[in-house]
Amino acid sequence: MRYAAITGLGMAVPERILTNADLERMVDTSDEWIVSRTGIRERRVVGPNDSTTSLSVAAGRQALEQAGLTADDIDLIIVATCTPDQFVVSEACLVQAELGGAAAAFDIGAACSGFVYALSVATSFIQQGMHNRVLVIGADTFTRFIDYTDRSTCILFGDGAGAVVLEPTDEPRGLLNTVLGANGTGNKHLYAPGWGAVVPESAELFPEYRPYLQMNGQEVFRFAVRVMGDAAAEAVERSGLTFADVDMLVPHQANARIIDAAARRLDLPREKVWVNVDRYGNTSAASVPIALAEAAAAGHLDEGDNVVLVAFGAGLTWAAGMVRWGVAGVRRLSPHRADAATNDLVVAVGEPVHG
Ligand code: UT7
Repeated sequence: MRYAAITGLGMAVPERILTNADLERMVDTSDEWIVSRTGIRERRVVGPNDSTTSLSVAAGRQALEQAGLTADDIDLIIVATCTPDQFVVSEACLVQAELGGAAAAFDIGAACSGFVYALSVATSFIQQGMHNRVLVIGADTFTRFIDYTDRSTCILFGDGAGAVVLEPTDEPRGLLNTVLGANGTGNKHLYAPGWGAVVPESAELFPEYRPYLQMNGQEVFRFAVRVMGDAAAEAVERSGLTFADVDMLVPHQANARIIDAAARRLDLPREKVWVNVDRYGNTSAASVPIALAEAAAAGHLDEGDNVVLVAFGAGLTWAAGMVRWGVAGVRRLSPHRADAATNDLVVAVGEPVHG
C-alpha cells in the first residue's frame, strides 16, 4: 500500500496588519463585539505588491526547502483557491512559472474547504502511482473582494497561503481518509457575484448586483457548527480510532465559536486544538495549511500523531480527514534530503512577504 507523507510545510502572510481598532474607525463595530462573536483580533491584508501568487510562491518555497527538494523534484502542483490572480491561466501555472520546474499544474475551487479537497486529490494521485511528489497550496486573498463598508463581512477575512509537499511512503503516513461533501443549494448563503463568465451586462439591468462577497452569517454559522463536528467525527470513526486517539485538531479558522463547537463534539481539550483565528482571521483555503504549518513549527506534532483536519466553506462545502503525522518510510532523494526530513521542520512563522 502506498501512502503520501507530508514532508515539508510552509506559510506566508502579508506584512500589513488590520486590527479591530482599525476597523472601529472604518465601520460601526467594536473590538469587544468582534472578539466576543468571532475571536478575531487582527488579520493580514495584501498590499499593492502582494498577490495570491506571491503568497503561494513564498509558502511553496518554504515547503520545498523543508522537504529538501527543489521545484524540479515536483511532478504536480495543485493550488486550492477561489481568488486566483487571473481566471485564465490557473493559479497553479502562475506559481509553477515562479518556482520553476515542469510539474503538471491545476487549481481546485472549494472555497475554505479547498485545501483539504486538494490534499485528498493529491494523496489519491500518489497512492495510485500517477504522481510522486506533489506540492499542494491553499491560498486566498479575499480582502480584495470585501466591501469595507459592510461590517458583517469586513471584520472576518484576512489573506495568506499555506503549502505542503507530499511524498510516497509504504508506511501509513499522511492523509489516511477523507470526508468530502457539498450542498450546492446553499450557494446563496456565501458567494461573490459577477466574477465569473456570467456577468450582469449592466448594474441598471440588475439593480441588486454587487461585486463583493455576500454572506448570510447566521445561516453559514448554523451549517458550520453542524458539519465541522459531524465531518471531523466521521473522519475519526472511518480511521477505526476513537476521539481519545486524536492528538491534534486543525480546523478551518473562521470563528472561535465554530472551532469550540467542533472541539466539544470530539470531546477535545483546548490544548489539542490549533487556533490562530485571533491573528489571521479567516484566510479561506489558506487557513488549514497555515494552522498545520504553525502547529508543526511549534513542535506540537510528533511522528505517528493522529491529526484531524476539518473545514467548511462556500458552496456550501465541507471536508475532513485523518492525517497520520510523520515521514516514516519516505525514501531520501539526496543527503540534503535526509537532513531535512526530520521532525524539526522549521517554518518561518509570520515571516512577512514583500512584493
Ligand atoms: O469560511 C466561511 C466564512 N463565513 C463564516 O464563517 C461566517 C459564519 N457566521 C459567523 O461567524 C457569525 O454569524 C458572524 C460573526 C458573521 C455574526 O455573528 P452573529 O452572532 O451571528 O451575529 P448576527 O448576525 O446575529 O448579528 C447580531 C447583531 C446584529 O444587530 P441587531 O440586528 O441585533 O441589532 C448585527 O447587525 O450584531 C450586528 N452586527 C455587528 N455589530 C457590531 C453584525 N456585524 C457586526 C459588527 N459589529 N461587525
